[in-house]
Amino acid sequence: MSNASYRIRLAGAKLPEPVKAPAKRAWRAWGGLAARAYGRYYYTNAAHTWKNTTWLGVPIWKNPKDLWVYQEILWELKPDLIIETGTNLGGSALFFASMLDLVAADAGGRVMTVDITAHKELPEHPRIEYLHGSSIAPEIVTRFADAAAQASCVLVVLDSDHHYDHVVAELRALHDFVTVGSYLIVEDTNINGHPVNPFFGPGPWEAVDTFLAEQPGFVPDRSREKYMHTFNPRGFLQRTS
Ligand SMILES: C[S@@+](CC[C@H](N)C(=O)[O-])C[C@H]1O[C@@H](n2cnc3c(N)ncnc32)[C@H](O)[C@@H]1O
Repeated sequence: MSNASYRIRLAGAKLPEPVKAPAKRAWRAWGGLAARAYGRYYYTNAAHTWKNTTWLGVPIWKNPKDLWVYQEILWELKPDLIIETGTNLGGSALFFASMLDLVAADAGGRVMTVDITAHKELPEHPRIEYLHGSSIAPEIVTRFADAAAQASCVLVVLDSDHHYDHVVAELRALHDFVTVGSYLIVEDTNINGHPVNPFFGPGPWEAVDTFLAEQPGFVPDRSREKYMHTFNPRGFLQRTS
């Protein structure tokens, strides 16, 4: 720190608290704006950031801070079933399976993941089952229902088509598989200007609005946004009843 800067800070520290308070509020507000700007910058530079992220060598289109939050949720819940929509290249399914290896007390925990595109060379893992089709197709929903009926703790992650109609349809079709206390995680609620990708049109954020109005038993757990940079603002929905 330069000598001048040090002297200014020293003088500021000696000011009475009521005088310091507005400056502290302004400093904090600036931090919030900077965090949003960072979120936009990070998202816009996809080729360098989230499309350039791997888990055990497999591409995973997620924010690493969100992955840390997933790790914390999985440790707390130790789910025996994770349902994921939107497999893509399999990185997130492999991440979930790896986490289950680490946190699950038994070998029974499994990941079911669906994609409408038949992606090739998906990573193999004994816990992962790949399904091919639309996440809202009746035959796929039935497969999920059969698995959920055998499980005591179910976590659902929606990360497929992010357009409003599809996310609402997924929420309606899959929410009931989530067990009380567990989570329905709606990925990419940040798009359509929340705060990234402002021209996307109605997407996951707006779908969550519609869903919450229908299902009061789910509550956004905003404590999961503690790292202040998430792809899922208001998207960590906890089932409370
Ligand atoms: C954002 S990527 C998923 C990213 C992945 N979960 C990850 O973290 O690496 C979205 C995927 O959803 C798939 N998708 C699009 N519409 C779908 C639908 N109706 N049902 C299932 N998957 C769909 C796409 O083919 C694409 O692979």
